[in-house]
Amino acid sequence: MIDFIFPLVGRFHPILVHLPIGFLVFGVILIFWAGKKYSIYSPIIQLAFLLGGISAGFASISGFLQYQGEGYGWDSVKFHLILGILTTLLSFGLWYHLKKSVAYPAYLKIKAATLLVILTLTGHLGGNITHGDDYFTEVLPPELQVFLGGETSKNEPLELPEDNWEEVEFYAGAIQPILDQNCKSCHNPKKLKGELDLSTFKGIQKGGEDGAILESGNPEKSSLFTRLVLPEDDEDHMPPKDKRQPRKEEIELIKAWIASGPSENAKLGEAAINASLVTPFFKKNEIPFYPVIEVAKLPQDSISKLREKGFFAEQIKKDSPLLKVSCINFPTFSDSDWQMLQSAKDQIVYLDLTGTAISDVVLEEIASLPNLTVLKLNQTGINGSSLGKLVENKNLKLLYINNTQVTVDKLSVLDGHPSLEKVFAFDSPAADSEKSSLLSFYLETGNLNLPPLPTDTIVY
Ligand code: HEC
Repeated sequence: MIDFIFPLVGRFHPILVHLPIGFLVFGVILIFWAGKKYSIYSPIIQLAFLLGGISAGFASISGFLQYQGEGYGWDSVKFHLILGILTTLLSFGLWYHLKKSVAYPAYLKIKAATLLVILTLTGHLGGNITHGDDYFTEVLPPELQVFLGGETSKNEPLELPEDNWEEVEFYAGAIQPILDQNCKSCHNPKKLKGELDLSTFKGIQKGGEDGAILESGNPEKSSLFTRLVLPEDDEDHMPPKDKRQPRKEEIELIKAWIASGPSENAKLGEAAINASLVTPFFKKNEIPFYPVIEVAKLPQDSISKLREKGFFAEQIKKDSPLLKVSCINFPTFSDSDWQMLQSAKDQIVYLDLTGTAISDVVLEEIASLPNLTVLKLNQTGINGSSLGKLVENKNLKLLYINNTQVTVDKLSVLDGHPSLEKVFAFDSPAADSEKSSLLSFYLETGNLNLPPLPTDTIVY
């Protein structure tokens, strides 16, 4: 019933430690400040050291109980504890010394200064235990941290290289980074919650206060895995509720590691795991929107000629050979004018024929643009009868047929197009089709069909 007393006293340690600091610092100040008037202050100084000694004693005991009850490692607390006890003994020593001799020997100051140094060291080591020994350096600029010999590695989320993930060590390259990010703050050699160190392979092998946390080949019997998938409200759930939780994919990877017979050095490729387990961790490469290709730059005077004819033509970016061509100021452009664009056939990646006089015939020509990525055919007379030609545009990603007569049946010849991502079909028959969801590309119709809400029928 009274089992809770010791842990409770232990919890008071962080509060109790401030009392001796106050008393003892006050006592030391008085020793230095009193000077000739020492005899007047003597009783107060004695009292300061007596109270300092008593409170330091209580702080040491509560500290010891906290160490016992909260899973701190002996290595991380030993110096703090020893110095705390030394502080207690020195305080009583000083008090006894002052009580016995009224004289004011010079070496009292030395003793007082020594006590102050030990007290400071004790406090500093205690602070390191609770706040981590990077408490002060953490806020310094990274360069200064490196200069002071610190590690600046922030716990980055796990990333795996797409092209040779098989070569990454399963434990060191995947599992430990996950544990570092999600578990290490509580399970490290200094803060051994559940007497468990998850910062090294050895620690994982060793297990915690309830014994092993791994059963090779059997994740369902390994608390390293089972605790992660308990309902978050379960008191055994790890990490504790309200703390940062690992991603589902990370938990799956831990499961696979245990199932593979958790080894320290095996490579991911050797573990016979499903590749889908690692894909969520691939670095997101910025995929360039336009094709990455070697094409000759169109001579500047050819571009100028296009402009003279009424096209808007410009490079997609400085120094790129790829061109954006638009007929925004050339509404009379028709099928027979195609010849003018023939010279820029390889360079055109963006073609806007919105509002021009073209017909479906021009699609045969457009099909010969190997790098075309965006095609706009809005507000034209096309009905889509030749849309199938665009299958040849292996780089086409966006197609605009807003305000045309294209139906979804005509459009469906593009179903399965290798690169087409999206078709914009506002104000066209295709927009009213139910079939759009069956297509391999996304059909943007602008029709927001919201389900009717009960409130829609309420008459106010
Ligand atoms: C906020 C602190 C905290 C974090 C973060 C945390 N744990 Fe714990 N863990 C504890 C505490 C406290 C205990 C002891 C109480 C208990 O057994 O539930 C514990 C116990 C455990 C145990 C049982 C050890 C034993 O033998 O009793 C396992 C296994 C465990 N944690 C795994 C993990 C894993 C895996 C992670 C990261 C995904 C994690 N923990 C993150 C605080 C934490």
